[in-house]
Amino acid sequence: MAIITFANTKGGAGKTTAVLLLATELVRRGHRVAIIDTDPQRWISRWFEAADPVANLTVATFVSLSALPRTVEEYRTADYVIIDLPGAQSPLLATALGLSDHVLIPIQGSSMDAQGGAQVLELLSYLDRKAGIRIPHSVVLSRVNSMVTTRGLLAVKMLLQERSVHMLSTPIIERAAFRDMFEYKTFLHLMNRDRVSNLDKAILNAERYADEVQALVNSRARGAQPSPLKADAA
Ligand SMILES: Nc1ncnc2c1ncn2[C@@H]1O[C@H](COP(=O)(O)OP(=O)(O)O)[C@@H](O)[C@H]1O
Ligand SMILES: [Mg+2]
Repeated sequence: MAIITFANTKGGAGKTTAVLLLATELVRRGHRVAIIDTDPQRWISRWFEAADPVANLTVATFVSLSALPRTVEEYRTADYVIIDLPGAQSPLLATALGLSDHVLIPIQGSSMDAQGGAQVLELLSYLDRKAGIRIPHSVVLSRVNSMVTTRGLLAVKMLLQERSVHMLSTPIIERAAFRDMFEYKTFLHLMNRDRVSNLDKAILNAERYADEVQALVNSRARGAQPSPLKADAA
């Protein structure tokens, strides 16, 4: 079992989208996945309640700070437990990080504002320095424009390189399909190609991203330390 938390103290960074993309792709691959929805806005829960049921996916909803460790424990039999944190700053952050095997930090590639991601990186570094708690973590660039390399994206990449922070080489591209998944309450691969633009590219992006997260979590489980990578936004 691997516990993965998505963290960024800025709302709109792409956490919930990244959670649903990973979870649905892992489910499609036959893994047992539990999502723990701690966001009072319940985006994932609302998606789950309206989507067709699948045997290997479950969502715990309205999970509070005091209930979080117990809820994670309840899903010990899942292959992946994925925690979605509330939109902005939350008292759940430190607890969720402490429970995690891997923390993924979505940082919006198109925005100069990497502050919310930097706050999570600072907390992780503080836990390491002060308490010797080392939690493996990686940045995933989110909502990256498929056409251009923006100044914001370059700024984020430089910041991460300076700090030797590991970054996934697959960014999550800004795609209508990733919004439509929430709108139509379905899986990417069940959506209608005629109604959703660039669906094939979106599916490929989600698959590569899930490949990388799976490889990362498995290698970390064996104790390997990947070196910092440069993301390729192409
Ligand atoms: N890769 C993406 N492509 C298109 N829209 C996205 C993407 N990532 C996020 N969004 C949209 O941006 C908004 C905020 O994203 P969300 O995943 O809810 O962020 P967070 O959970 O960090 O607050 C939502 O409207 C979502 O649909
Ligand atoms: Mg969210």
